[in-house]
Amino acid sequence: MKILVTGGAGFIGSALIRQLRAGQRAEIVNVDALTYAGNPESLPGLDDDPGYRFERVDIRDRDALERVFRDHRPDAVMHLAAESHVDRSILGPGVFVDTNVVGTQVLLDVARDFWEGLDDRPDSSGLSARERFRFHHISTDEVFGDLPLDAPAFNESTPYAPSSPYAASKAASDHLVRAWHRTYGLPVVITNCSNNYGPYQFPEKLIPLMILNALAGKPLPVYGDGGQIRDWLHVDDHAEALWAVLQRGEIGGTYAIGGDAERTNLQVVEALCDALAALRPNGPGGGGNGYRDLIRFVTDRPGHDRRYAIDSRRIQHELGWRPAHSFEAGLRETIQWYIDHPEWVQRVQSGAYREWIEANYADRELRD
Ligand code: NAD
Ligand code: TYD
Repeated sequence: MKILVTGGAGFIGSALIRQLRAGQRAEIVNVDALTYAGNPESLPGLDDDPGYRFERVDIRDRDALERVFRDHRPDAVMHLAAESHVDRSILGPGVFVDTNVVGTQVLLDVARDFWEGLDDRPDSSGLSARERFRFHHISTDEVFGDLPLDAPAFNESTPYAPSSPYAASKAASDHLVRAWHRTYGLPVVITNCSNNYGPYQFPEKLIPLMILNALAGKPLPVYGDGGQIRDWLHVDDHAEALWAVLQRGEIGGTYAIGGDAERTNLQVVEALCDALAALRPNGPGGGGNGYRDLIRFVTDRPGHDRRYAIDSRRIQHELGWRPAHSFEAGLRETIQWYIDHPEWVQRVQSGAYREWIEANYADRELRD
């Protein structure tokens, strides 16, 4: 099976590709524009892997996408490419609409044309290439908006009420994907997942930002009172869930994915400080009350959602998926990973990974 993964140089896409290639479960064509969030250094060793191909292509570029589909003829698309950071969407929403909404529409158009041209005669498996094709849209629980503290967790039938420009753009893309299924019959599956954490996450998101600041003895900026709740899932558990849905999910169906690990941001930051105190007792933030002394309460994010939580019973019961990591063990492992990979961290923080990208990928086609 050959899968066209968009956004495969990002945090979740790279975890998915590392997992699928490690198990030789699928050939991969990674379509990524390499924005600030895309880092081929998160895919170590794959350059020499014959089952892996990289295409530096922007999903808004219809001609380039058509060429990629023609050249590689994928059996499925897993669409992760997106602008993904809420704070950036507040500062500059335009690119979120461009990539997440318009980019998804262009990708849907090109995928639909390709799918309509596939052979509809059954082969030895009893199914045609057309019947086997899937378009898997990877989305977020943020489309459901702010969950009251006493409300049951989000599930597949929760109404959409996005708060941030990021969430609104992802909500729009989810609607487009469902419309392409209903109107054109494109065989789609959709997943809405809670907050991910794990190795190779860009240090603008809560957990890697706090780990790296704490290791450097810098302040840990907690927005507002730190009482906001997120439901944390290890990125490798997310990747396994995505594979299960791609393989066995109901066509046109939606699956909510979460870690059953609701924590306030302050609990997360304190747990991280305490784990660091055990792993790095002599670090620059390790004295006095340990790393907790670095915590600072700062101005809240505008429109900040108070709570997200996912009820993932559907995927658990129907597809047999379950998270393998507890939050506490996964957090310790993640901290250890950042401690053990100073070079990756240093190249991301200094911007050196961008120079490498331009040197290695400048000749590849890219819009603008
Ligand atoms: P990320 O920001 O780490 O990676 C995004 C990737 O998309 C990067 O490699 C970037 O270069 C690429 N990209 C951006 N714009 C592009 C464009 N126009 N054309 C081609 N490639 C482009 O994001 P992530 O955290 O890995 O999230 C991946 C997906 O999962 C997103 O769709 C996000 O909405 C969704 N999601 C994320 C989380 C989370 O906690 N991070 C949770 C649920 C769902
Ligand atoms: P983030 O990792 O940006 O993910 P999202 O906004 O998509 O949930 O933020 C997670 C939570 O942490 C969110 O409630 C905002 C909060 N936060 C801070 O308190 N301080 C920070 O420096 C960051 C980046 C986030």
